[in-house]
Amino acid sequence: MKVLVGYATAHGSTRQIAEHLGARLSRHGLATEVADLGHVVAPEAFDAFVLGSAVHGQRWLPEARAFVTEHAPELAAKPVWLFSVGMPDALRFPLPALAHVFQPPALVAELADRVSIRDHLVVSGVIRAEHLPLVGRLAMLVLTRGGGDYRDWGRIDAWTDGIARVLTTLPAVPPAGGGSARSHHGPADQGSPGRRRPAGATGRSTARGGPSSTPGRREGRPRGRPEGGEEGGQGASGP
Ligand SMILES: Cc1cc2nc3c(=O)[nH]c(=O)nc-3n(C[C@H](O)[C@H](O)[C@H](O)COP(=O)(O)O)c2cc1C
Repeated sequence: MKVLVGYATAHGSTRQIAEHLGARLSRHGLATEVADLGHVVAPEAFDAFVLGSAVHGQRWLPEARAFVTEHAPELAAKPVWLFSVGMPDALRFPLPALAHVFQPPALVAELADRVSIRDHLVVSGVIRAEHLPLVGRLAMLVLTRGGGDYRDWGRIDAWTDGIARVLTTLPAVPPAGGGSARSHHGPADQGSPGRRRPAGATGRSTARGGPSSTPGRREGRPRGRPEGGEEGGQGASGP
């Protein structure tokens, strides 16, 4: 069972959540790869998907939406979980309760038309006034309790453990072309049968924070994301 934890981030907090989540799935015995959705080119090599994005303007980032749209046929046949990283818990009372009710279905409405979603988690990320345009900063002053790291690692862990429970009880996917079923259980850096290596690729990943051998990814910078925009820059920082 090979799991892709794919993410799209503008300032790094979603990447850190993806890395944390991927490491936890690995500890459950699942072969897990964490990758920037702007780099993944071979989704057919994975048996399950946990895909997440930062939320901007009440939507996923463009590269995350593009990934789901482009690969909807491959995703449709496999289990898919989604997570969105926004700021519901940064809002002033009573807005968090409203956000937790109304935001989740709205965020994935366009994606749910394309793939069948097992579950969708909306969590808060890291909010920084300097990341927002002037209007956003004013709205932040009025609507939120201020900037900060609002990530709820306990909730993220509980959700991840639920995914692991499902995936570790699913039967192994047989290799393409028939033959006996072969399990891909193992640590994240295990070999990846069925992965496609782009022509000319060296095997070195350019995706930040991922494992060193990642033949399923495109070389180069991700789409639609500024260079150097990282939150914290020190990898997953769980509880
Ligand atoms: C320009 C901008 C727009 C945002 N728009 C929303 C939004 O519409 N809804 C929301 O819940 N959070 C919104 N946020 C908050 C981010 O989703 C949150 O800060 C998240 O942690 C960012 O993830 P990242 O660090 O991976 O980029 C916005 C943040 C920025 C910088």
